[in-house]
Amino acid sequence: MNDLVINDLEVSYKDNAVLRNFNIKINRNELLVIIGPSGCGKSTLLSSISGLVTPRNGEIIYNNNILYSQRNNINIPVENRNIGFVFQSYALWPHMNVFDNISYPLKVRKIKRNIIKERVYYLLEAVNLKGKERCYPSELSGGEKQRVSIARAIAANPVLLLLDEPLANIDEALKHQLLNLISNLREKLNIPMLYVTHDQREAFEIADRIVIMKDGEIIQDGCPKHIYRHPKDLFVAKFMGCNNVLRSCNIKNKFCNNSLLAIRPEDIIISENGKYKGIIKKIRFKGYSSELYVSFGDSKIIININNDKYNVGDYIKFDIKRVHILDDQDNTYHNV
Ligand SMILES: Nc1ncnc2c1ncn2[C@@H]1O[C@H](COP(=O)(O)OP(=O)(O)O)[C@@H](O)[C@H]1O
Ligand SMILES: [Mg+2]
Repeated sequence: MNDLVINDLEVSYKDNAVLRNFNIKINRNELLVIIGPSGCGKSTLLSSISGLVTPRNGEIIYNNNILYSQRNNINIPVENRNIGFVFQSYALWPHMNVFDNISYPLKVRKIKRNIIKERVYYLLEAVNLKGKERCYPSELSGGEKQRVSIARAIAANPVLLLLDEPLANIDEALKHQLLNLISNLREKLNIPMLYVTHDQREAFEIADRIVIMKDGEIIQDGCPKHIYRHPKDLFVAKFMGCNNVLRSCNIKNKFCNNSLLAIRPEDIIISENGKYKGIIKKIRFKGYSSELYVSFGDSKIIININNDKYNVGDYIKFDIKRVHILDDQDNTYHNV
């Protein structure tokens, strides 16, 4: 059963059409990650689902209940949709402590005090913030603030959880912890979750399914492995980390009809007997690995390494393990 169904959604800000004929279905217990560049309409989509933005046309249906329908003139107000929302900027009330922030959605629903208290303590434990209930947002780190925001979003047992770039302001080291927390919630909540990001690494860590968006449209929709192995076009390939794009004539191999090839830096292996020879023009140190910018023939290629063996000006030999042929019919991943 599809729990959230969006049909032919159109959303505009004055005459700027952001979403056009947008269609998507999300199942219960599915964590869908939407990836797309800044400005492609991700936040607009989430705001339309939650009711913060009113679409111009289409339908939003949750579990057979119409939340919005232009045709039927239905637009359920935000406060009656019971959708949890986690924002990049936390959006906590600065004058309320952690307890009051988390309990807010329950107070609005006039839940009894002792039940609220029990629920808030349960949530504090679930998001690992026990003992912080009297702190104010200004006394918390970014990671802790986002935990409060997640606890508040799920406090009233929402039917749907929307997360809009929740880790964009979080330190790299804490991202894994929060991604784990969100993954665990997915198992417990059994509701559709929509997670928006522009970072493919976050997507691969938690997604059951990935949708790639560009200019208000879905470019590709599928399971993470499929999207990684079969990027539909150059846009998806680049977004998924294939930052080497070459013409097949440049690597003189069996794909000689001048196809466009996308190659992941990790699929290039330096080897003494390598088929290709190039010169290192630049080295970019990235901590856990380095990128070698290598010039060979008329082309340039980026190779990932995790050692300090090379210097600018060194000649190296390498092999290319796999390529994506982008103008191939089925965008297959070929072993070279
Ligand atoms: N409240 C608004 N009023 C007018 N234009 C907006 C508003 N919010 C977003 N936009 C415009 O809509 C487009 C999509 O924005 P947004 O949904 O925020 O994209 P994303 O979240 O993918 O970065 C952008 O061109 C943006 O400038
Ligand atoms: Mg946004």
